[in-house]
Amino acid sequence: MTKTRPIRIAPSLLSANFASLAEEIRKVEEGGADLLHIDVMDGHFVPNITIGPPVVQSLRAVTKTPLDVHLMIEHPEDYFEEFRQAGADILTIHWEVCHHLHRSIQVIKEKGMRAGIAINPSTPVQVLECMLSEVDQIVIMSVNPGFGGQRFIPFALSKIRTLRQMISQAGLDERVDILVDGGIKLDNCLEVIQAGANIIVLGSGIFYTSDPAATVRKVRGLIEMGVP
Ligand code: DX5
Ligand code: ZN
Repeated sequence: MTKTRPIRIAPSLLSANFASLAEEIRKVEEGGADLLHIDVMDGHFVPNITIGPPVVQSLRAVTKTPLDVHLMIEHPEDYFEEFRQAGADILTIHWEVCHHLHRSIQVIKEKGMRAGIAINPSTPVQVLECMLSEVDQIVIMSVNPGFGGQRFIPFALSKIRTLRQMISQAGLDERVDILVDGGIKLDNCLEVIQAGANIIVLGSGIFYTSDPAATVRKVRGLIEMGVP
């Protein structure tokens, strides 16, 4: 099997208690979280509103864990500089909102951040073919973006497999992460990784459990047992 980038666990703060984010972050860090996934929503691209650069800046001050910022907003390019200044390490934008995706990805990288493209469940992975060599990560949405706690859409698995094949054929396994976002829990995380993902986002699957640190450790245990 081709060597991929390391397998990582990214808790999504969307399902954390917003009144005590620093404490929530400490819990998942204690469990060994690799990244913190932050969902930014504008009430236009998705039917929900969450947080923006000021909150990211406050979180940056309380953690050294890389901040993986998922922009579910229209006109994301208007905010790249603000998120850079706020301390984002990875900035992901949606294929569906970008008229000039190649340019936007270049700008994110020029600003020193890792750049990602996310696609909705209904968007085929084939649209990404010419951008694979330009990005650091692809985000396969396995729910329709906008809310935590939704069910994993099963056909996302075949999209992950196809994308892994495309990335392998392009010789990019060691450069491009496949992140899968939505509906991942203890009982399906291994399936997602075996399909070809190397970063898994878990929101409700971690923060709605009684002991988020222990849940992160359980996910890690499953990964270590399932992946030689
Ligand atoms: C959905 C967000 C996800 C969300 C995942 O729009 O992009 O990151 O937090 O939450 P769960 O893991 O509960 O599906
Ligand atoms: Zn997300």
